Amino acid sequence: MKFFIETWGCQMNDHDSEKLSGMLDKQGFAPAASQEEADLVILNTCSIREKAVHKVYSVLGRLREEKLQRPLIVGVAGCLAQQEKDALFKRAPHIDFVLGTMAIQQLPRLVEEARARHKRVIDTQQYPDNHLFPPEVTQRRDTAKALVTIIEGCNHACTYCVVPTTRGPERHRPYEDVLAEVRQLVKDGYREVEFLGQNVNSYQGGCNFAELLDRASEIDGLEWIRFTTSHPMNFTRELAQTLVSNPKIAPFLHLPIQSGSDAVLRRMGRHYTVDQYLERLGYLGEGRSRFSLSTDFIVGFPGETDEDFEGTLRVLETVKYDTSFSFVYSPRPGTPALKMKDDLSPEIKSERLSRLQARQTELTLTSNRALVGQTLEARIESHGPTGQGLWLARTAQWRNVHLKTGEGRQLPFGETVRVKITEAGPHFLRAELD
Ligand code: SAH
Ligand code: SF4
Ligand code: F3S
Repeated sequence: MKFFIETWGCQMNDHDSEKLSGMLDKQGFAPAASQEEADLVILNTCSIREKAVHKVYSVLGRLREEKLQRPLIVGVAGCLAQQEKDALFKRAPHIDFVLGTMAIQQLPRLVEEARARHKRVIDTQQYPDNHLFPPEVTQRRDTAKALVTIIEGCNHACTYCVVPTTRGPERHRPYEDVLAEVRQLVKDGYREVEFLGQNVNSYQGGCNFAELLDRASEIDGLEWIRFTTSHPMNFTRELAQTLVSNPKIAPFLHLPIQSGSDAVLRRMGRHYTVDQYLERLGYLGEGRSRFSLSTDFIVGFPGETDEDFEGTLRVLETVKYDTSFSFVYSPRPGTPALKMKDDLSPEIKSERLSRLQARQTELTLTSNRALVGQTLEARIESHGPTGQGLWLARTAQWRNVHLKTGEGRQLPFGETVRVKITEAGPHFLRAELD
């Protein structure tokens, strides 16, 4: 029996797929090279925006056709599963099982039941110890960087967001468990970890997030620690101090602002003003220049005026983010923002998004160009698309590097090398070995 998992969404979901793979492996399944070769297909879904959901339904449509041709078990996991629960069976009756985000350890049982009983099964309960997943079961896909959950769920209540529903309230992993996992990963050869959570900086698993970072950094052999995502409200002076003073923390900070208008931020339920956000970034002090800064923006939130949007552009100019992720607001089921009057035309929303993204591209290009001629450390992630002699790597600041070496040169994935930057574009840097 072979399985195939298709994954959408954030790193949290990527990591959940690594956990699902590990459980299936233990259950005797082998990975299939493609969906067509699989006897069991799991869709690990995202529902953050409507577009993400459309993609899932389109794949489900294709799978229905396939199921008419051959025996196939279809499972839906992830945030759409948690949100829609058994309504998914109505929409797509060929689904065999639905597995919620807070029940992923129930996968082997659901697969067994679906196989044995030829009956549809579902588990979207909230198991209180689901975040205590045994790390030795996880089957990691990334050989350069290991994802490590530190906190699951979210206690904020941003008015546009499905995550509090789809991931539940915060559950914190005890710091001893986190550190034990990192130690094992280093023994297994990893030099880089990324701590995961919807809001890592509200971590309280026996110590706070800044303390967790410091403790992890004491592990010999670990070189870079990354984390995603942080909420500005939980970004403290103590954390900023740790970030700038601890050399093992990779100098990349993703701190989503969402909007540059106080009125919009209030309606979003973000609980900070633009000035408060900027003040918090300022906690980084002089160390800030070493950091690459990144953010998320939502454009076209209900009631966003031209002036509100100009505020967002002003923030972009003030902070000069090295990179940002921006989206048009997508109305989501069950969220309070659904009830807000949204009378902006789709044309205006997408025009605003284009303006924002065009300016970000210029800023990213400028910041990348400033690196040409410099020698930096980069970690090898994979082969380049053309194969021999071209490698994909990342700098500590999370910039993509296309590294050219002579043919025949072998570089193990995960290895840190010194590279000289020769050219810069908005999406990647070109480099040679120093
Ligand atoms: N916990 C993180 C965000 C997770 S969701 C945080 O608070 O920063 C990732 C990003 O998706 C958000 O930062 C937001 O910019 C975007 N997003 C979430 N819900 C959205 C919606 N309904 N429409 C458009 N973008 C949304
Ligand atoms: Fe969603 Fe807000 Fe929680 Fe982020 S902090 S996951 S945007 S509710
Ligand atoms: Fe999507 Fe769920 Fe992540 S909604 S962004 S997969 S937490």
